[in-house]
Amino acid sequence: MSDGSSFYITTPIFYVNDVPHIGHAYTEVAADVLARWHRQAGDDTWFLTGTDEHGQKILRTATANGVTPKEWADRLVETAWQPLLATIDISNDDFIRTTDKRHEVNVQLFLQRLFDAGYIYTGDYEGSYCVGCEEYKQPGDLVDGTGQYEGQQVCAIHSKPVELLQERNYFFRMSDFTQPLLDLYEKNPLFIQPESVRNEIVAFVGRGLTDLSISRQSFDWGIKVPWDDSHVVYVWFDALLNYITAAGYGADDAQFERLWPATHIVGKDIARFHAVIWPAMLMAAGLEVPKQVFGHGWLLVGGEKMSKSKLTGIAPNQITDTFGSDAFRYYFMSAINFGQDGSFSWEDLSARYQSELANGFGNLASRVVAMVLRYFDGAIPDAATLAPADETVLALERRVTSEADEAIGRLAIHEALASIWQLVDGLNGYITEQEPWALAKNPEQRERLQAVLSTAVHGVGTLAVLLSPVIPEATTKLWQALGGVGEITAVPVTRAFEWQSAGRVEPLEPLFPRVETIDGAA
Ligand code: ME8
Ligand code: MG
Repeated sequence: MSDGSSFYITTPIFYVNDVPHIGHAYTEVAADVLARWHRQAGDDTWFLTGTDEHGQKILRTATANGVTPKEWADRLVETAWQPLLATIDISNDDFIRTTDKRHEVNVQLFLQRLFDAGYIYTGDYEGSYCVGCEEYKQPGDLVDGTGQYEGQQVCAIHSKPVELLQERNYFFRMSDFTQPLLDLYEKNPLFIQPESVRNEIVAFVGRGLTDLSISRQSFDWGIKVPWDDSHVVYVWFDALLNYITAAGYGADDAQFERLWPATHIVGKDIARFHAVIWPAMLMAAGLEVPKQVFGHGWLLVGGEKMSKSKLTGIAPNQITDTFGSDAFRYYFMSAINFGQDGSFSWEDLSARYQSELANGFGNLASRVVAMVLRYFDGAIPDAATLAPADETVLALERRVTSEADEAIGRLAIHEALASIWQLVDGLNGYITEQEPWALAKNPEQRERLQAVLSTAVHGVGTLAVLLSPVIPEATTKLWQALGGVGEITAVPVTRAFEWQSAGRVEPLEPLFPRVETIDGAA
């Protein structure tokens, strides 16, 4: 699937009302693994992330903290959202903030074009609004409240009462796009993934779309409507446009042409905005719809979506301080089927760290390097002849490489890891069977020992390349120890088994050291 073509991938732009938790980090890591894989496959890759800074939710938080919304956003971006990217090794190519000039002017350009094309009109909005979601709610979207909200209708996501709005607004003729969207979903069944999210959205649109209120008049923290500055643009309409304003829409046609359309990785909570409102906006503007919208599952705490507003968030560095960034990345990508919900637990994280990363992969790498040092003084031996068992390992390297690439093409990150782990297990089994330590005791078996360690080193190097998009820190150390030629990221991941060593290994510290204390287990 990786063929040198362009691959533009995005995360949602996150609200800066609060600091990130591991749910946001989860989306970042998934998009990052896909971006790193494609980049290393030679695709023309662009990875965008950023922050969503307008709207009532941010305004209220800033006001409650006694600062202007821009001051609040600057503070949160600088102290929390940008640092998150370093904490979990995110390789984004760009970071957009909706308060960037490059965004604001081109949101206005887009809106003016829609207005000129007749897709916008004035109307009266009367109904419910959830500031947590920044979304207009239909009665069917609400559920019965519990606890302090007993007897009231509340937002199904935030469990808080909605607010009644009555405003003169500008409306977008979204209802015009009911049929074009249904046609799109039918013509391109992979447009919305996974299947569960697709079904929900097809059913929702199938009931018919209503027009969308796209401006607000009662506060001013937003982008001004270009022909009427008594209104600001509805925060979602503003936010969705980040994917094209960052790609050069209105400013750099060549760049926009090269990048667009994108693959959007989002949580399923906001899949509807991305798979309904967003393509309708693009169709109205005569632009291409996204390549794909993938709505991944939620990280759950006590069976509920972990969230900032419910104070159930776990900070990413609570995990990385103890286990490291690689373990964070590996754990969430392997333990949860991408597309399904997953429950985080410290016990599960720590058990998988020990069995899969420390004992499975890390120990394999350490043993192989140590044996080359011990038996060959660090010079990686050549194999004169290969036995069937050695050939089997080489064949496995090729098979898992193509299986993993195929899985990444389907955004099935957990399946790619499961394929790669067949090689971890295969190599561990190979070493147990071949017993190089026993061969080393018998001078007559010298050639056989050479073939076994040559094969094992080769397999471990292939693993390093295949795992570098997921665990970049450990694989870079391993690459160094294997004498890998060039940067590990310069080896095409789709030809991982063609990696080369300069010929000598160097001592390797444990890649995943024993973790004694489990912080935050309470
Ligand atoms: O919705 N499990 O921003 P947001 C998994 N600004 N992922 C989670 C999660 C959880 N428990 N909690 C949050 C917004 N996420 C808008 C987006 S895009 C044009 C505008 C992740 O700060 C997941 O990706 O509320 C979810 O969709 C996103 O954070 C919501 O982030
Ligand atoms: Mg949210």
